Amino acid sequence: MLSIPEYQNEFLAYLKTYPFGKAPEGLYAPVSYIMHLGGKRLRPVLTLLAADFFDGDYRKAMDAALAVEVFHNFTLVHDDIMDGASVRRGHPCVHEKWDVNTGILSGDVMLVMSYKLFEGYAPELQVALLRVFNKMAAEVCEGQQYDVDFELRGDVSLDEYLLMITYKTAVLVGTALEMGALVAGAAADEARAIYDYGVNLGMAFQLQDDYLDAFGDEETFGKKIGGDIAENKKTFLYIKALEGLDNEDAQLLRDLYELHPADTEEKIKTVKELFVSSGATGIIQDEIRSYTQKAFDCIIPLGTEDSKKQLLLDFGRDLMTRTV
Ligand code: IPE
Ligand code: MN
Ligand code: MN
Repeated sequence: MLSIPEYQNEFLAYLKTYPFGKAPEGLYAPVSYIMHLGGKRLRPVLTLLAADFFDGDYRKAMDAALAVEVFHNFTLVHDDIMDGASVRRGHPCVHEKWDVNTGILSGDVMLVMSYKLFEGYAPELQVALLRVFNKMAAEVCEGQQYDVDFELRGDVSLDEYLLMITYKTAVLVGTALEMGALVAGAAADEARAIYDYGVNLGMAFQLQDDYLDAFGDEETFGKKIGGDIAENKKTFLYIKALEGLDNEDAQLLRDLYELHPADTEEKIKTVKELFVSSGATGIIQDEIRSYTQKAFDCIIPLGTEDSKKQLLLDFGRDLMTRTV
């Protein structure tokens, strides 16, 4: 097995040489732009890592890893339009640098490109990869729609929220790993275990994302801080804060989440204070630790050597303490 930074480098080297298309430039320049904008490359690294974890060859998983990363970036291009975001990875979003129509069509062709990357796999493996990929892709859209629906609803429960982030974020992390396992020819129960590890890790990842969206540092996080608050997103922090506040403060928080447009600095500041005073920030940290532990519990029973498992444990631990 390689180290995480080594998998990252291998992936980046492949990405650099991959031809994303040239003409018409209006279609493909935004694709290259978003694909080379940086980012943590967590998901493709997990695909490569899973292939080696199950005694395969990470090089054979390279196209699957790239498919995962192209798909992920496609969802971000469209998501930034839907969320009215302006900054991604510290740079202008595609629809800001170009325009909304460009974001739509370049996003569309990225989805096609992600499927094209499966062409090189032998038929049986290709079908297996497509099956998990398609299931995941539909679920991501479902999660995205729940996310949109929840913006307009005042009564989103914690369970509904957790289901939404399972679909929106966690299943892609799980599937990225599962695809690596499939390339390596892992047994069905092994592929399932690594998928479950990924889904739990993805939950921890999204909760950390919610936390950083409010309390992170704009420089390192690469997105505008307070974006979720400005958008009235009913995140874990909001739902838990409502539970923990007295009636008066809870009403204040609800009122602030009725504001449209609502991206005032004053609102963001007050909401963050309520997130802290309600105890929600402490609870989210516990929850992040708990999902990370659940992820670890999925791989500990596997018969793989300890040194390989250690890499997955280290990965989870690093993710839990990230600031980017
Ligand atoms: C993006 O979710 C999820 C998908 C693209 C499916 P968010 O809207 O919560 O993510 P960020 O904060 O823009 O990265
Ligand atoms: Mn967004
Ligand atoms: Mn969104």
